[in-house]
Amino acid sequence: MRRKLLLGNWKMNKLASEAKEFAISSKPLVQKAKDAGIDIGVAPTYLSLQAVKENASSDMIVAAQNVHQLVSGAYTGEVSIPMLKEFGIDWVIIGHSERRTYDNETNAKCNAKIKALISNNMVPVYCVGETLVEFEGGLTKEIVGTQVRDGLKDLTAEEVKNLVVAYEPVWSIGTGKNASTEIAQDICHFIREVLRELFGEVADEIRILYGGSVKPENVKAYLSCEDVDGALVGGASLKIDSYEGLLLNIL
Ligand code: PGA
Repeated sequence: MRRKLLLGNWKMNKLASEAKEFAISSKPLVQKAKDAGIDIGVAPTYLSLQAVKENASSDMIVAAQNVHQLVSGAYTGEVSIPMLKEFGIDWVIIGHSERRTYDNETNAKCNAKIKALISNNMVPVYCVGETLVEFEGGLTKEIVGTQVRDGLKDLTAEEVKNLVVAYEPVWSIGTGKNASTEIAQDICHFIREVLRELFGEVADEIRILYGGSVKPENVKAYLSCEDVDGALVGGASLKIDSYEGLLLNIL
């Protein structure tokens, strides 16, 4: 049985003081989620990780939005796994489309980061998804299939057990043009079949999220899809009321 997962991606939003305020207000919500057997979390900027970790319930998943695969060295502007671990962070979003678009995050780079995270017993949330041009060209499965295969190259079934995959069509992120539930189910099912081909029956344990213009009004429809185990939510996760709305609608 896969537990439902609701993860907010704050991107480059919120001062640490605002993140702290959110974390404090989120405590009753996290308790509600726990009581209902739902995993819930947020991914703040690096600078707000500590504020959220220290002020939210210990059941709140606190994820970083990126990490470098090496432990230390001359990589200006980067943050490593031991640096996150020192703050008790063990979840990291990898390969978000904004990082693929603006920071040249390739499938190979994602693969190196995912391997480094897994070997440190951390949980990667690996994002995949096609652009509008690829979608319109009927290339979604080809693109997403390659992202899954290349991003998870040389890993074993045992290693990917705790991995989370997020299907986020690039054309639906922050645009209000969310994919239909039929598309979300079709592609999440396709991802599970690729995972099955690569890793066997562990594919049934891996959680697959949908992301892209998820709001309190449509979250339930996505989570009713058989292969959609949760949501990765940007804009609608920023305000506590809307974050609460997301949760209340899937309880
Ligand atoms: P959005 O972002 O919910 O604002 O569309 C989703 C994401 O980028 O993870």
